[in-house]
Amino acid sequence: MNILIITAHPSSKGDTHTIAKTYADAKRAKGDTVELVDLYSPQYKVDLFAFENIREFPISPIQKKFHEQMTWAHEVVFVHPVWWSSVPAVMKNWIDLTIWPRVAYKYTPTGAVEKLWLGKSAKVFVTCGGPAWHYYVPFVLPLRNFWQIAVLWFCGIDLVDFKVCGNLDVYKDEKRTKHLEKFMKKIKESAE
Ligand SMILES: Cc1cc2nc3c(=O)[nH]c(=O)nc-3n(C[C@H](O)[C@H](O)[C@H](O)COP(=O)(O)O)c2cc1C
Repeated sequence: MNILIITAHPSSKGDTHTIAKTYADAKRAKGDTVELVDLYSPQYKVDLFAFENIREFPISPIQKKFHEQMTWAHEVVFVHPVWWSSVPAVMKNWIDLTIWPRVAYKYTPTGAVEKLWLGKSAKVFVTCGGPAWHYYVPFVLPLRNFWQIAVLWFCGIDLVDFKVCGNLDVYKDEKRTKHLEKFMKKIKESAE
């Protein structure tokens, strides 16, 4: 299976990278092919999506690469910290550039949406400073719906796992380390 992992954390010490690596290692050990995309790496530096006329928006080599990576992937895994109850701006920019008309979805002549990435699956693993339950209980904070309905459903991708590691700005020292270790166990289980 081809697995694409997209991360958005500015610090190399961010727990996001540990989660992504834990998942990647577990999947590689099973014989899957994994590609990791660190959206903060200079290789993926791209302007913020802007246009005067969207129909004349020129597709850059980086945007094309994002499309190719998604076409290649059977499973896509998003790993990010919660920033203002949502994704970091760099990941939102990736969404704007990648969930692209005629690549991820298209409109039929009757105005219906044709999902072009049917058959792919997705997982979302996030970290946050406060409690995690806000993201699991329906109608409290919209992060899960944002991923599952607004983004992935629109292009036919099934969200099959959503995990939140909370309290990372509250727990300190050994308590934080143990808490993260427990979460990594769940990440490894998800890879099995
Ligand atoms: C710009 C910004 C916005 C944040 N917004 C939230 C938030 O809305 N809810 C929350 O629980 N934590 C929020 N946090 C805290 C981060 O989610 C938390 O520090 C991070 O997930 C911890 O993982 P890390 O140590 O790998 O960065 C925010 C942090 C930053 C820098």
